[in-house]
Amino acid sequence: MKRFFSADDVTDLDALVQDAIDIKKSPLLKSDIGKGKTLGLVFLNSSLRTRLSTQKAAQNLGLNTIVLNAAQEAWTWEFEEGAIMNGSTVEHIKDAANVLSQYCDIIGLRCFAGLTNKEEDVSEKIFSLFEKYASVPVISLESATLHPLQSLADCITIAEHLPYDKKPKVVLTWAPHIKSIPQAVGNSFAQWMNKTDFEFVITHPKGYELDTQFSQKATIEHNQQKALQDADFVYVKNWSSFEDYGQVVPVNEDWLLTNEKLEVTNNAKIMHCLPVRRNVEVSDEVLDSENSLIYEQANNRTFAAQVILEKIVKGNE
Ligand code: CP
Repeated sequence: MKRFFSADDVTDLDALVQDAIDIKKSPLLKSDIGKGKTLGLVFLNSSLRTRLSTQKAAQNLGLNTIVLNAAQEAWTWEFEEGAIMNGSTVEHIKDAANVLSQYCDIIGLRCFAGLTNKEEDVSEKIFSLFEKYASVPVISLESATLHPLQSLADCITIAEHLPYDKKPKVVLTWAPHIKSIPQAVGNSFAQWMNKTDFEFVITHPKGYELDTQFSQKATIEHNQQKALQDADFVYVKNWSSFEDYGQVVPVNEDWLLTNEKLEVTNNAKIMHCLPVRRNVEVSDEVLDSENSLIYEQANNRTFAAQVILEKIVKGNE
């Protein structure tokens, strides 16, 4: 494996998930394959899980890690090719990516959607520029449109709880929020679910359609209660409007997930990538119920990162 940006970089999803589950059983089995190599983690946005789980995964493989909180601690980056840099930006992303590649054997980059320029976000301007000028493999720690390490952790978590007697019904439900949030987690989960043979339904209010390049194979149901019927897994996530780009479009119905709403499910397991705004996106009673997988998902972030880092260190799939 030479890069990890999306589900399209994975040739066999089931095998990858199984590899991660095997790693979880013996995480230190290959604790020297990264010896002498360095993983650089570059964050243009905040993180708890991605930062620490990827560092832990690297430690398990014997990789050194260096972390750059680029938005707070580095020179302000310029993203325009050919820019005359006589304004507030101090270092071009071209130079930053080149220099970081001198210090690192693999680089992870987090660069959220700005949610102001749809074309730039959809084209993955920042991730693409960084990858263009980096001379080492680059992995996404969440980009403008996708969050592949989260989705791989979600696939691992689902695989560990599959029903014995049927293909699962997985529902991705939109949830309310007070802020404008990127579509990356929803897009990415849809992209990975579309690579499975699960029944996959997305439910959201009208106006919150995801980019069809990621959601196209899903069944879309605007009635949340109908969508939840017989669900085995319910993944809860907010995202802002893709059509009215980055806007919080007013919604009249109540989309907060409660135990009462979940009564129509097949005793569904509940998923959320975290961080979660409790009692805005999901009620405490749901997040703290015995069916909640939120902490298992967070735990599986380590093994998702570890299986990808191992394949990149080895240079294979
Ligand atoms: N789920 C997730 O990516 O968490 P962080 O933003 O804390 O890394």
